[in-house]
Amino acid sequence: MEKGRIYIETYGCQMNVNDSEVMLSILHDAGYVRTMDMNDADIILVNTCAIRDNAEQRIHGRLEQFRLQKQRRGNVIVGVTGCMAERLKDKLLDNHIVDLVAGPDAYRDLPRMIEATTPDSPQINVLLSHEETYADIIPERMDRNGVSAYISIMRGCNNVCSYCVVPYTRGAERSRDPRTIIREAEDIVAKGYREVCLLGQNVDSYLWEDPETADRNMNFAQLLEAVAKVSPDLRVRFSTSHPKDISDEVIYTMAMYSNICRHIHLPVQSGSNAMLEKMRRKYTREWYLERVQKIRSVIPDCGITTDVIAGFCGETEEDHRDTLSLMEKVGFDSAFMFQYSERPGTLAARKYKDDVPEEVKTRRLNEIIALQNRLSLQSNEREIGRTHRVLIEGVSKKNADELFGRASNNKVCVFPAGGHHIGEYVDVEVVSCTSATLLSRLR
Ligand code: SAH
Ligand code: SF4
Ligand code: F3S
Repeated sequence: MEKGRIYIETYGCQMNVNDSEVMLSILHDAGYVRTMDMNDADIILVNTCAIRDNAEQRIHGRLEQFRLQKQRRGNVIVGVTGCMAERLKDKLLDNHIVDLVAGPDAYRDLPRMIEATTPDSPQINVLLSHEETYADIIPERMDRNGVSAYISIMRGCNNVCSYCVVPYTRGAERSRDPRTIIREAEDIVAKGYREVCLLGQNVDSYLWEDPETADRNMNFAQLLEAVAKVSPDLRVRFSTSHPKDISDEVIYTMAMYSNICRHIHLPVQSGSNAMLEKMRRKYTREWYLERVQKIRSVIPDCGITTDVIAGFCGETEEDHRDTLSLMEKVGFDSAFMFQYSERPGTLAARKYKDDVPEEVKTRRLNEIIALQNRLSLQSNEREIGRTHRVLIEGVSKKNADELFGRASNNKVCVFPAGGHHIGEYVDVEVVSCTSATLLSRLR
């Protein structure tokens, strides 16, 4: 019997997307069905992100929309899940919009919580766990193309980067049983998927210590290898790598398997040692540059992308120039760039003053973005004339006769369809580019 229709909206990182898939699977098994239409839903879930203040402001805006739904229809349940649920807990109930609050480790409890929810008894479960990895749950995939799937290999984070809220919203780091990861990879191959992205806040610290036999212990390099062996037709990606932890073993493993994509997302955050120290990133500029050099010496064509924060506490013009010079030195292929946003409860919020004026943060961020645009364009120009094996992900938004997909190094290629289809591998040659796309032709 159908118990109700669920509408779900997801914000934040890839792990949150995968968590929404886990929730859908749990709710499906409990008798709920998914709807894509909010107006048709009995339960509206918003899976939230707390990483920066503007991420949270967006959600507050969304909740006001949901208030209108409730006013119009009365009986709809509004639930907040994910990192903001964990951070704000029962404070989320104050606005009288939200009926249910579930943190990232409470999703198995959702069916019970939904059943128990009434207008007078909102439900809240924000307990964090040391064990929960949802290992036995096959997520209900939300991707549209059926080509590329996420598999979370771990949860939480044990680093305490001073600016970051994730350790508080996701709890302690724990790795998932590798046998369940392999099973899930086999399952997606059987379903026709051609790419998997292994997810964790810091995949390099993945470590499975088997409770029964040490023979089954596994580090990230070994896991990567095991997933690469599932099928030669399954490309393997992973994110995120931490510069302090990425090992030579991981780099050599990547080099050994042609179906492990030549791309590493290696967030640097800052190019200044003073800032890195204050951020508690536990590496230096020199260490980071050495890791990049190592990657390039073993895998010369490896795409390297990064995250950068502008205007962290006490950042001087010189610190900022160190970030620009590091970016230039590495020549990142692309980057996610942010203005520092103080998060309540973090070490930085308690210990340091958020003292870089807003306009200075914005100006520095704009300089970082302008530089990265130039570096991305240069990086793409170097691709002209090269041939890439691309996994076709979809039809180009600009031209229905063209397809797009990503090369192993994560760059997006657009090319004439020529009778090819989504989910196929094709070889293309790059003929020209923008800073975002490689315009290509079929080989
Ligand atoms: N686990 C990943 C990062 C996850 S958060 C890692 O360690 O690399 C994604 C990115 O958001 C971070 O890399 C950082 O650049 C940015 N970020 C995190 N906290 C932030 C904050 N308080 N203000 C601005 N950007 C932040
Ligand atoms: Fe946050 Fe640092 Fe953990 Fe990444 S490694 S999630 S930035 S605490
Ligand atoms: Fe956001 Fe939580 Fe991911 S804070 S970035 S959704 S881990």
